[in-house]
Amino acid sequence: GARMAGGRGALIVLEGVDRAGKSTQSRRLVAALCAAGHRAELLRFPERSTEIGQLLSSYLEKKSDVEDHSVHLLFSANRWEQVSRDTCDVPIHQFAAFRRAQPAACTGLCSALRTRGDGRPAARHPSGRTRLCTCSVYLCHRFSLCELRPLIKKKLSQGITLIVDRYAFSGVAFTSAKEDFSLDWCKQPDVGLPKPDLVVFLQLRLAEAATRGEFGRERYEDGKFQERALRRFHQLMADQTVNWKMVDASKSIEAVHKEIHALSVDTMQAAAQRPLGELWK
Ligand code: ADP
Ligand code: TYD
Ligand code: MG
Repeated sequence: GARMAGGRGALIVLEGVDRAGKSTQSRRLVAALCAAGHRAELLRFPERSTEIGQLLSSYLEKKSDVEDHSVHLLFSANRWEQVSRDTCDVPIHQFAAFRRAQPAACTGLCSALRTRGDGRPAARHPSGRTRLCTCSVYLCHRFSLCELRPLIKKKLSQGITLIVDRYAFSGVAFTSAKEDFSLDWCKQPDVGLPKPDLVVFLQLRLAEAATRGEFGRERYEDGKFQERALRRFHQLMADQTVNWKMVDASKSIEAVHKEIHALSVDTMQAAAQRPLGELWK
């Protein structure tokens, strides 16, 4: 269609140690791209607004303890839920009409799926506006009644560039900084995620990052632990299958922005011509 003529959007990730400027720069980048007429949106991980995100937020704030392997999988799940969140565009009345027109098909599927066959709400409608019986959602998937495309993939395919504040690399660096966690084990849950077209690593010495303010009280905000995480980031950067670009984050906000902006514009042009990859696969 006309949309595709412009090609897909790019997936651009910002990583770096604490206070390197990831959040500042991702906001600044989205604003600049939008002002120049590009379609760009901001994502962040952890995404604290979802149910999983709330568990993570409470863990990070040390309001709860979660077993280390388990919390690692939750951080990964928090990314996957943004990849595969249903974005069904079919108006709700079409589901209701289908159920009225084909009650047998609906009930049959319900019993095959061992869900309630009464048409009563059992699952959230992908739009999040209301709840539907599971079979309706199933029918929607099964017969492609709507375009059930993952959120991140759908946006990219619509030509929207996504700027992401932390991604799987933070996930691996932070968990593998703990005792007895191998890099390889930590990578596995994120294998197959949409692969970033560009990963900007904001480089800043930990001593300099420390001058940008005190640590808060969140988990991992500890000098020794940050050092271990940084070492893991460097191990991940040795992987040539990922398009890493180092940026000196000690310069002014504006100078750093200019550099990231130039890298991003190049990446957007290149990404439009080639398919989205799968991370670590
Ligand atoms: P991160 O998201 O990487 O933890 P932030 O973007 O939240 O980092 O920035 C941390 C702090 O450092 C903020 O107070 C921010 O204003 C400041 N800061 C960000 N970039 C720079 C820079 N290039 N020079 C000086 N201070 C900066
Ligand atoms: P974030 O919300 O980006 O906080 P800040 O901008 O203050 O650095 O990240 C919160 C913490 O979560 C940060 O210490 C890194 C950690 N983290 C993980 O441990 N695993 C993950 O998968 C991600 C994305 C972050
Ligand atoms: Mg931040």
